[in-house]
Amino acid sequence: MREFNYKNGTLCCGDISLTEVVKEYPTPVYLYSYDAIMWHFRKIQEAFKEVDPLICFSMKSNSNLSICKALVNAGAGLDIVSGGELYKALKVGCSPKKIVYASVGKTEEEVKIAVGKGILFFNVESLPELIMIDTIAGRLKKKVKVALRINPDVKADTHDYITTGTKEKKFGIDFKTAEDIFDNPNKYPHVLLKGIHVHIGSQITDTAPFSTCIRKILDFVDNSNIEIEWLNLGGGFGIVYGDEKAATAEEFAKAIVPLVKNRSLKLILEPGRFIMGNSGILVSKVIYVKIGSTGKKFAIVDAGMNDLLRPSLYNAYHKILPIVERQSKKEKYDIVGPICESGDYFALDRELPELIAGEYIAVMSAGAYGFTMASNYNSRPRPAELLAANGEIRVIRSAETYRDLIRGEKILKEMK
Ligand code: LLP
Repeated sequence: MREFNYKNGTLCCGDISLTEVVKEYPTPVYLYSYDAIMWHFRKIQEAFKEVDPLICFSMKSNSNLSICKALVNAGAGLDIVSGGELYKALKVGCSPKKIVYASVGKTEEEVKIAVGKGILFFNVESLPELIMIDTIAGRLKKKVKVALRINPDVKADTHDYITTGTKEKKFGIDFKTAEDIFDNPNKYPHVLLKGIHVHIGSQITDTAPFSTCIRKILDFVDNSNIEIEWLNLGGGFGIVYGDEKAATAEEFAKAIVPLVKNRSLKLILEPGRFIMGNSGILVSKVIYVKIGSTGKKFAIVDAGMNDLLRPSLYNAYHKILPIVERQSKKEKYDIVGPICESGDYFALDRELPELIAGEYIAVMSAGAYGFTMASNYNSRPRPAELLAANGEIRVIRSAETYRDLIRGEKILKEMK
């Protein structure tokens, strides 16, 4: 992981030792590296520069205001999926002309607000949604730009829950329906059918599914009477979590750019994980080391599945590193959290140097879909988020307090 390496025996973020960080900030805590974020963003920019895409960072991967602001300042647009993400996107000063809005379930209220703000376009996921957007645009006396999200029926080798481009999934519109829509624009007088959107899944480490998908989409465009201005290729570029191989930005570009460069199409990419995944970690403290009745060792840490859900939900692999490096004999541990569920783990049967109560570990590659998927389950306040930039650590979201846990809740009068 860029920027997160052992130096003189302790894990560091840039030049900042995590042993210092944990003295100042209680765990669990997320820590991101500004340099790593920018490095990953620029990698994509550089690799695809021949086609100069609008890179709309996918806020669902990490919607912290400072992080979105840093990316917007660097020239990114934003990919949003809810009224809440639109609110945050505007808060960081992203031009609405650089906001694209996907989601199979946009509500009327959300659409109304987004139309009012004049976003670049909606990635429309169904015919009823298109009709709804058309009706609202009509009411507001606007012409609204849309891209049809096509479900290309292309399988990517990733976890089923994050596969989105196969025909049995809820996402996107099939080719036949899309053709009917493009052939009958007069049925939707208040929308401008400006583009096509695809997103076939996430954590795709191979370039082939992207090429297959783009070929299918371009064949569709070439064999029908469609004129589009924008082609939005979605997100999905995978990263290295463990020992797997993942294509680099250059390799993704090498597979994609030749297919699209000679067309007069403006391109959009919606990377989330590629930018943030390996730009952040979750730091946690070992509270106890417990030996189960079978002899199994459990390292019980102060972070739980409420803080980082990926291992529990997708059986996802995250590297775990003690923040003080040591050479002791390796032993197998289940690294588990304090939550009352057996699925509350970060690693099972993981070989690690001996872990000692009171020491700190880092769950690596936790910058994407970490904090954004955190919850208050078991009435646990969500952790703070820190950003390392210019050799300094700063808080970009305070840890929640017990007071935050009851915000908005009421004890009914008759119960008092
Ligand atoms: N665009 C659309 C329309 C998406 O649905 C997504 C992710 C992205 C872009 C960004 O994809 P990325 O570049 O990050 O792969 N919680 C899961 C990942 C869910 C991804 C959902 N959609 C995880 O932790 O693996």
